Amino acid sequence: MSAPATAAPGAPVVELDLEDLRRDPYPAYAELRRTAPLAWVPSVGRHLLTRHEDIVRAEKLPEVFSSREEGSLLLRTVGPNMLREDDPDHRRLRSAAEPPTRPRQVRDLWAGAFEKTAHDLLDGIAGRGEADLIADFAEPLAAANLALVLGLRTASAADVSDWSRAMMAANGNYADDPDVWLRAERATRAIEDAVAEAAEAARREPDGSVISSMVHAAAPVELSEIQNNVKVIIGGGVNEPRDVFGVGAWALLNRPEVLDRVLADPAAWKRVFEETARWVSPIGMYPRQLTEAYEIAGVTLPAGSRVALVIASGNRDESVFERAGEFDPDRPHRPHLAFGGGPHFCMGAWVARHEVSALAWPLIFSRLRGLRLAEHPDDRLDGWVFRGLTSLNVTWQAA
Ligand code: HEM
Repeated sequence: MSAPATAAPGAPVVELDLEDLRRDPYPAYAELRRTAPLAWVPSVGRHLLTRHEDIVRAEKLPEVFSSREEGSLLLRTVGPNMLREDDPDHRRLRSAAEPPTRPRQVRDLWAGAFEKTAHDLLDGIAGRGEADLIADFAEPLAAANLALVLGLRTASAADVSDWSRAMMAANGNYADDPDVWLRAERATRAIEDAVAEAAEAARREPDGSVISSMVHAAAPVELSEIQNNVKVIIGGGVNEPRDVFGVGAWALLNRPEVLDRVLADPAAWKRVFEETARWVSPIGMYPRQLTEAYEIAGVTLPAGSRVALVIASGNRDESVFERAGEFDPDRPHRPHLAFGGGPHFCMGAWVARHEVSALAWPLIFSRLRGLRLAEHPDDRLDGWVFRGLTSLNVTWQAA
């Protein structure tokens, strides 16, 4: 499969400034959906597919819209892994890794420990009366929970956070900064050591974790495959739950009437989660590459074409979501795209749903009395490939 880094014949070419996208990609996406739902964007080096229905169609055809993107930075950073594989290799790795992240396992194996960690973190800040809930609560919570589910017994939440940051920086290292590669290499070596140790322990004594599940899988999985997949999961499994937590808490603190309704009906937290992930999707887009020529959104893409499925745009498509730019947990249910679709549908969806909507949000609003935004100038939404709040400074009445 050759990979033309150019526009497909007949595809509209749209110039977009990456800094503008980083600040707020939604006006550009609205214009693309209206005028050029498949457009070649030179600064991204891909065709952006922006309408909900076209993204769903692409996700239903994984044999045409392949996840094996040539020259992907993710491959360079972590090596071959399930996210950038197609079936049957994808299915073999996914089936080996997935069981510990299913809803029942989340409830039976992990929920108790997640809750204890959340309380411990809140105990540490409750007396202060002020905090950045991203750095002081959501990120260490997501990192500690991930270490547990993966089975990394010797890694601290701070290790997992640092590794995650190093992986994410390398995955976005389009500028080829050597320092970024160096940090990623250090992190990958540390992860490989930690996984080798955990795999050895799980071989002797299975513990229900992702590493243990991969070690004991029916279809054999090599140690290097376990290491690479753990690197991918560490790369993504911290930021996204943290970002949904931050954006949802911020939206509710800005809309007291919605917050009052949610606090009166605990079942509403689930709707808040899905609406937050739709409204500001933590992963804004991901790549695919065509295995054969295919016509979509009025353009015939040749084999090898690079496409970005812009799920953040599909999630604001007015033909599916009325008043799509508005945060409204009471809106009629429509399937959003924040967890992707098709065979690569997020493996951590139930972990994230539980830690954020069943624990983190209800706990901050019940334990931190009089919680309010501190209106800090550094708290802002940022990013387009990944998007979330840079920080969430709040105050409350210290006990
Ligand atoms: C709100 C939180 C999260 C969001 C919005 C999210 C979003 C996504 C998306 C959009 C994909 C598909 C990417 C693609 O097809 O190229 C994905 C895949 C994946 N996610 Fe998540 N994620 C979240 C949390 C997590 C967590 C906590 C974990 C780990 C416990 C995790 C593990 C994975 C894995 C392993 C895949 C690859 C699955 C496969 O290739 O079959 N995610 N996620």
